[in-house]
Amino acid sequence: MALTYFKRYRMEFDLTAELFPCPPLPAGYHLLPWHDGLVDRHAQAKYASFCTEIDANVFPCLGDLEGCRRLMNDISRRRTFVPESTWLVRYQPPEQKRPEDCGTIQGIVNDRGYGAIQNVGVTPIHRGRGLGTTLLHHALTGFRRRGLEKCFLEVTAENIDAIRLYERLGFHRVRTVYKASQVIYS
Ligand SMILES: CC(C)(COP(=O)(O)OP(=O)(O)OC[C@H]1O[C@@H](n2cnc3c(N)ncnc32)[C@H](O)[C@@H]1OP(=O)(O)O)[C@@H](O)C(=O)NCCC(=O)NCCS
Repeated sequence: MALTYFKRYRMEFDLTAELFPCPPLPAGYHLLPWHDGLVDRHAQAKYASFCTEIDANVFPCLGDLEGCRRLMNDISRRRTFVPESTWLVRYQPPEQKRPEDCGTIQGIVNDRGYGAIQNVGVTPIHRGRGLGTTLLHHALTGFRRRGLEKCFLEVTAENIDAIRLYERLGFHRVRTVYKASQVIYS
């Protein structure tokens, strides 16, 4: 086990500016607004999206289903939770009986009145179809409905694809932060 510092960027979005367009959902995908009964499904989608990614080292709870359950419970019970910015993507084409939860995003509001995107994640086989963009669009729309003027997220500097996506959508890098984490090296 070694203490490792991960470089991360804080990226902000001006919610008073025009919002990027929401891509159409491909066939078979459905967006579910938040309700309390979805806490475990968000946790499962979060785990499946993050367990093999760099952020599971930065935040070890993301690499563990129970950790994701605790995190989801914690986020959704906070006084600062923003249900309007919390969405789940379900995949269920007509021929598939069992629905598959394949994308998740959650929002909270911080003490300065900024919307804070919590972990946006899409499970590996469903990436590159516009779902991440759709989740961000709905989360940002939720913040705007609350009357918030700015929101932000933090992203690990190694997560080049995610950073490119955020920049393309209009997020700007405003600060570098370091997150300390205990990492197990084999
Ligand atoms: C970042 C993430 C949410 C994007 O979701 P997505 O559904 O693929 O997003 P979209 O389809 O709307 O956008 C695709 C863009 O993401 C990039 N991308 C990132 N990872 C990708 C992957 N594995 N497959 C395809 N595209 C990927 C593409 O380069 C594309 O960018 P482009 O439009 O400039 O070509 C998703 O890759 C993910 O869950 N990653 C792991 C978890 C994570 O790191 N989350 C971010 C935490 S800050």
